[in-house]
Amino acid sequence: MKRHHSDPRLPRKLYIKTYGCQMNVYDSGRMADLLAPLGYEATDAPDGADLVILNTCHIREKAAEKVYSELGRLRPLKEEAAERGDQMLIAVAGCVAQAESQEMRRRAPVVDLIVGPQTYHRLPELVARAHRSTGAVLDTDFPAESKFDHLPETQAVEGPSAFLSVQEGCDKFCTFCVVPYTRGAEFSRPGEAVLTEARRLVGAGVREITLLGQNVNAYHGEGPDGRDWTLARLIRKLAEIDGLDRIRYTTSHPRDMDDDLIAAHGEVDALMPYLHLPVQSGSDTILKAMNRRHTADDYRRLIDRIRHARPDIAMSGDFIVGFPGESDADFADTLRLVTDVTYASAFSFKYSARPGTPASTAGQQVDDAVKSDRLAALQQILDAQQVAFNHATVGCQAPALFERIGRRPEQMVGRTPWLQAVYVEAPLQLLGQIAPVTLVEANAKSLTGILADTAGDTMQQPAEQVA
Ligand code: SAH
Ligand code: SF4
Ligand code: F3S
Repeated sequence: MKRHHSDPRLPRKLYIKTYGCQMNVYDSGRMADLLAPLGYEATDAPDGADLVILNTCHIREKAAEKVYSELGRLRPLKEEAAERGDQMLIAVAGCVAQAESQEMRRRAPVVDLIVGPQTYHRLPELVARAHRSTGAVLDTDFPAESKFDHLPETQAVEGPSAFLSVQEGCDKFCTFCVVPYTRGAEFSRPGEAVLTEARRLVGAGVREITLLGQNVNAYHGEGPDGRDWTLARLIRKLAEIDGLDRIRYTTSHPRDMDDDLIAAHGEVDALMPYLHLPVQSGSDTILKAMNRRHTADDYRRLIDRIRHARPDIAMSGDFIVGFPGESDADFADTLRLVTDVTYASAFSFKYSARPGTPASTAGQQVDDAVKSDRLAALQQILDAQQVAFNHATVGCQAPALFERIGRRPEQMVGRTPWLQAVYVEAPLQLLGQIAPVTLVEANAKSLTGILADTAGDTMQQPAEQVA
């Protein structure tokens, strides 16, 4: 951006730090888009920034506490700026802002602006108000109109893989979870708006889009014909976009995996063979107490149907150990489910009591030491499954999407269809492109590959994996 003569402070520096889920990553990008016309340019350190935004996560206690430590680190920077006669505005956005706005006002006077996930389209106005105000400016409404109607078109495209939010909020009210309170009621963007944004992204060089939503497979956006589109319908439409080679979606709820979506996994070439489908627990008692509204066997049957449609699909999941009332037998049920399903990757967490959620005050809270033991036991199995999955793909030839330059000379980092990171020696021209790679070596979290001599996108399925 060119310096603006009437305002010697332009360009202004904007530092955004993002915590939490991919949805926050998407939102942070949109915040940068919103502020760009005001002269804000992104910078990668808070020192000397005119505006710092912490885009926060409230899902577990640790995630929320990180924000206060970061604010502690920012305070001296803000004071140094003030001594120089500059103003460093500090904004807190995202789910902690939504959940703890009043507490934050008291606890962290360094904060100038508190904005929730559904109102950040008002940032330009809020920033202007914060410049004039002495106390913190606050906006944590759940406005009736959607922020998506007010956001500018996506500007900053970084690399060939992009996130696109299609659904937000949640009405499921799992008893451990803050999302229905921080993100509000479930809402789907209209199909046409999603297609338009996707076409723009592809026009800017994007080859892969990950559709985002807290419950993305519950998507039911209005179609151009006035009737609701399902996620499967949306994916089939997106797959028609020329140049959009890869489609993914996350996060899904087992109860919303409908027949058409399962079928799409077998029918839509662009839909990648990877599915994040959190189950949280393998115990029916705990699933019930969590209000997940399905049993462990429902989940097993669902996985069977998905694998029937797409045999090589890489399954991923989330697990919580030490939910209130979880007994040794309940935990053993979780281990059994994990062994039955076999995951290619997974995330697991100790239960964290979140203020205001039903589980935080109900049932018998589990000792932290017990939680730690269970987490270690679970992660040992999940890690071994990930290694086994990666090993099973060695020898396969698969198309890799080259996302970034590696650390070693001429090394590039790509993604396989199964979302594995693969390190390959490849020419720079392949950055942002898809090329066939032979997978030659598996490590715990990644693979090494070599560019295949044969042209074309042949993909051999990792036969061993699917038991
Ligand atoms: N919508 C997704 C999950 C979003 S939150 C779903 O329905 O599965 C991401 C993950 O954080 C959850 O899957 C869960 O495993 C974990 N999580 C959520 N609340 C938690 C809590 N209170 N304690 C520990 N882990 C939690
Ligand atoms: Fe939270 Fe997911 Fe449950 Fe919604 S479905 S309440 S986002 S865990
Ligand atoms: Fe965290 Fe909010 Fe996402 S609580 S996980 S940032 S929806």
